Amino acid sequence: MPLIYILSPLVAFLLYILYHVLVAPRFNVLRTLPGPPVQKWFGNHLQHVLNPIVTPKVHEIFVQRYGRTVRIRGLGPWDERLLTLDPVSFTHIVKNTAIYEKPWQSRRLITSLIGCGMLSAEGQVHKRQRRVALPAFSAQNMRSLVDISFKKGIQLRDAWVDVLGSTTSARIDVCQFLSRTTFDVIGLAGFDYNFNSIRDETNELFIAYKDMFEVAISQGSMFRTLLSIYLPTINQLFPDNTVRTVQRCKEVIHRVAGRLIQEKKEKISEGEKSGDPYDGKDLLTLLLKSNASADLLPEQRISDDDILNNINTFMFAGSDTSSLSMTWTLFLLAQHPNIQDRLRTELLSIADKFPRDLSELTEDQVQSLHTALSGLPFLHNVTRESLRLIPPLHSTLRVATQDDEVPTMYPVHRRDGTVDGTKRSFTVPRGTFVHLSVEAFNLDKAVWGEDAWDFNPDRWDNLPEAAQQHPWHFSSILTFSAGPRACPGLRFALIEMKTLYYILLTNFVFKETEDKITKHNVVLTRPYLSGKFKDGTQCPLLVSRFTPT
Ligand code: HEM
Ligand SMILES: *[C@@H]1O[C@H](CO)[C@@H](O)[C@H](O)[C@H]1NC(C)=O
Ligand SMILES: *[C@@H]1O[C@H](CO)[C@@H](O)[C@H](O)[C@H]1NC(C)=O
Repeated sequence: MPLIYILSPLVAFLLYILYHVLVAPRFNVLRTLPGPPVQKWFGNHLQHVLNPIVTPKVHEIFVQRYGRTVRIRGLGPWDERLLTLDPVSFTHIVKNTAIYEKPWQSRRLITSLIGCGMLSAEGQVHKRQRRVALPAFSAQNMRSLVDISFKKGIQLRDAWVDVLGSTTSARIDVCQFLSRTTFDVIGLAGFDYNFNSIRDETNELFIAYKDMFEVAISQGSMFRTLLSIYLPTINQLFPDNTVRTVQRCKEVIHRVAGRLIQEKKEKISEGEKSGDPYDGKDLLTLLLKSNASADLLPEQRISDDDILNNINTFMFAGSDTSSLSMTWTLFLLAQHPNIQDRLRTELLSIADKFPRDLSELTEDQVQSLHTALSGLPFLHNVTRESLRLIPPLHSTLRVATQDDEVPTMYPVHRRDGTVDGTKRSFTVPRGTFVHLSVEAFNLDKAVWGEDAWDFNPDRWDNLPEAAQQHPWHFSSILTFSAGPRACPGLRFALIEMKTLYYILLTNFVFKETEDKITKHNVVLTRPYLSGKFKDGTQCPLLVSRFTPT
C-alpha cells in the first residue's frame, strides 16, 4: 500500500490537533475575558476551582483581580473555560437548560453506572422523568419518610449505645454510620426495601450499590477513566477490575431491584382489581402511580428501565449528600460546643411533650414530633448554616450547546484590566465548559459579610439585604442549586436530617478528637484525616452519652 494512504490521514489528524491546540484558542472570544495566568504550558486551574481547601481564598482573589466573570484553563490550551461568580449569570445559566447542558462526558460516566436517570438525562427525556417523579416528593407524600427517618434514627442511637458499652465516651467514625443510615432510609423510602445496614453490611443489594458508588469516587487511573469515557468499547475489549465490579453490581441491582419493581406493579394492579387501592408510600410506588395517572400524554410516560434508573439515581443522589451534610454538621457542632448546647436545649424543649423512651412513640406522636421540629427556629438556622458553609456538592459543570450572550450583575473586566462600567453581558462560545461554584456563592463576603467563612447560625436572625436578594432553591444558599434542575430531594433531605439531629443530639454529646479533619472534593465534599487521604473518608468524633438531668 502506498505510504501516502497512511500518511495523509495521519497528517490531517496532526493538523487537526495542532489547529485546536495552537490556532483555534487564539480566536476564542472567551480570550477577551481576564483570568489567572497558566504556570506551565500544560498547567490548568482545575485544582484552584475544585479543591475546597483553597477555593474560598482563590475565589476571593479572582474577584479582586478579574471581577466575577473569569476565564480559566481546563485540561489543556484547547480547553478555555468560564468560571462565573456573578449571581445573574449563574441564574441565567441554570435557568436556560436548553442551552446549557451537563457535559456528555460526565453524563456518560454517570449513565455507565446508574443508567440514564434524572441526574444525567437531558432535553425531553429529562423533562419526562422529572415530571413523573416530582409528585413523589410532594409534602403529603413525605409523611412516611418522617416515620422511616425516626425508626432509623433510633437504630443508629442503639448502635452507638452499643459501641459505648459501659465506657463514658468513644471515638466513633460518625461519617460511616451516617452513611449507612441514609442508605437504609433511602432504601425504605425509595422502594420499600430494608438494607438493614446500620446493623450489618451483608445485604446483597446494599453491597452492590455500595461497591458501585465506590467506583464512582475511587481514585482509579484518571487516564483509564478518560479513555473509557471517550472510547467506551475499551471496557468491553479490555475489562479491568473496575469494569468487572460495575458489571457484577449491575447484575445484582437488575435482578433484585427488577424483581421489586415487578412485585410493586402486581400489588398496584391487584389493588385496582379488588377495589382496595394499594397505598404504598415509597418513591417506587409513587412513580408507578404517577406514570399511570390519566393526565399524562402517552409520550410523557416512562418505561421500566426509566423506573430502575431513577431509583438508582435516588440511591446515588440522595444518600451520600445527606449523610455528608449531617457529618459536617456534627463536626461543626463538635467544634462549637456553645452552639451544640444551645441547639440541644432547644430540642429538649419539645421532648417533654413525648414519652421519654423514643421507641414508645406512636405513629401520630412521631408526626407531631416532626411538626414541632420543623417549627424550631434554631434547629433550622443550624441546619442551613451548615448547608451553607460546607455544601456537599461543591460545584457543578455545564456546557454551552450554542453561542450565547450571558447577562451579568457586575461589570465584566477586560483582559487588559480595564472595566467597561456600562456593559453587563459577555459572549460564551458554543462548546465552552462553565464552572458553577455552589460554594463560591454560599461563602461570598459581598453577600454574607466579613464573617461569611465562619460557622455562625445566628447570622440568620439578621440576614444582610444582599443575601435575601437571591432566594435560589432554598434559603438564599445554592446548596440545592437553582432553576429547573434544582434538587427535587430538598424536602426529603430536610426531614431526614432534622429528625436525626433531634435523636442524636438529645442522646449524645459530640467533641473533637486530637485528629485534624480536612475536606476533599471527590464528587462530593468529604472528610478525611489530615495527611491520610489514602485511608478513605472518615470523620471520627468523641461521642458520649447525654442524659438529661
Ligand atoms: C443534603 C442533601 C442534598 C443536597 C445538598 C443535594 C444537592 C443537589 C444539587 C446541588 C443538585 C443539582 C446537581 C447539578 O446541577 O449538578 C441535586 C440534584 C438532584 N438531587 Fe439532590 N441533594 C440532596 C439530597 C437529595 C435527596 C435526598 C434526593 C432524593 C431522594 C436527591 C435527588 C436529586 C436528584 C434526582 C437530582 C437531579 C435533578 C435533576 O437533574 O433534575 N437529592 N441535588
Ligand atoms: C407507564 O405507562 C405506560 C402507559 O400506560 C406503560 O406502557 C408503561 O409500561 C408504564 N411504565 C411503567 C414503568 O410501568
Ligand atoms: C433563626 O432565624 C429566623 C429567621 O429565619 C429567626 O426568626 C429566628 O429567631 C432565628 N434564631 C434563633 C436563635 O432561633
